[in-house]
This record gives sequence, C-alpha cells and structure tokens, in this order.
Amino acid sequence: MLTRIAVLVSGGGTNLQALLDAEQSGALHSGCIALVLSSNPDAFALERARKAGVPAAVCRTEEDFRKELESARIQLVVLAGFLKILSPEFVRRWPNRIINIHPSLIPSFCGRGYYGLKVHEAALRRGVKVTGATVHLVNDVPDRGKILLQKAVDVLPDDTPETLQRRVMEQAEWKLLPQAVEQIAQQIAETEEII
Ligand code: GRF
Repeated sequence: MLTRIAVLVSGGGTNLQALLDAEQSGALHSGCIALVLSSNPDAFALERARKAGVPAAVCRTEEDFRKELESARIQLVVLAGFLKILSPEFVRRWPNRIINIHPSLIPSFCGRGYYGLKVHEAALRRGVKVTGATVHLVNDVPDRGKILLQKAVDVLPDDTPETLQRRVMEQAEWKLLPQAVEQIAQQIAETEEII
C-alpha cells in the first residue's frame, strides 16, 4: 500500500511542485500526495495542487488541520514553505511523522524568526561561504528535530538574498525533499498497516 502524504504550504509551493514532479516521474513511488493544506488562501501552492488534481483546502486553526489530516487518513505530513508554528500537542499526534524543509544547514540560521528570505539575509550578514538546506523531523522545538538529510550550497561573492534563496532551492531543497519523503514513505509503507 502507498503511504498517504499531506503537504502543508503557505506560499509559492515550489517545494510542493518538486514533490508533485517526483511523484509524476516515479522518483517518489512509495507514497501518494493525497492532500494539500494551506494556511494562506492566496498561496500559489493551491494552484499547483489544483493543476495536479490533488485535493486541497485552506485551514485557519490547528483543529481544522487536524480534522482534514485525520479524515484523509494521512500517515506522513510534509511542511513545505509552511509558515505556522505547530503546537507541541499537534506535533505529538504524529510522532516522527512530520518533516520540514529548512533553507539553511541547521543548527545555523534556524529557530524562531528564521524563515524564507530572512534565513539567507542572516547567512549573507554573517559572511558564511557555504549554506544549504536541511530536512528534519518536526518536534516541539522549532527546527530542532532529528536531522534527516542536508545538502551544501556555495555562497557567491555577489549573492543577494534572492539569488542565494534561488540557488538553495534549485540545488538543495528541491532535491532533498523528494528524496527524504520517498525514504520515509517507504519505511512507513513497509512497517505500518493502513490505520
Ligand atoms: C523557501 O525559502 C523554503 O526554503 C522555505 O519556504 C520558502 C518558500 O518555499 N521552507 P515554497 O516555494 O513555498 O515551497
């Protein structure tokens, strides 16, 4: 049986698109993207889900997210450009079944206040020569769950936050997330009966 995956989004959805493309190409074959949930009604990620024929909904409260995930019998939750901080109570509902993509090499430039462009602005301000992306399990401390995969990306002398964000997405995020989701979906498919 395929692992049922939900992707939680808030913005452009380029990481969601990488997962949809991976499912299409067969790179992601142990799970199916069964649901997209957005905290933002204007997220372009919702348009990407519609084009791919994936059921989607906008959720305003954690209770809304929980109900949608449970009714869709979701087994793996992927946070992809998702900007809400989930409560410890919510996270404990899916132990070791929520993963997040963060646009830095954790433990650098992570935690509260580090999201989107702010991460790359901080990396450039600090003057690091290498940054990258991290896929990690989500626990009750933001960006502090077990690290699953990381990929380094060079910082170039003329980088702006925008050019650096784009390179980290292209060279790291969009490669790591499908790889991590396939690995975990395969583990779940092999060990868990459908609940
Ligand atoms: C990206 O910077 C990503 O690293 C972070 O959220 C931003 C938007 O991602 N997680 P997406 O295009 O909505 O997937």
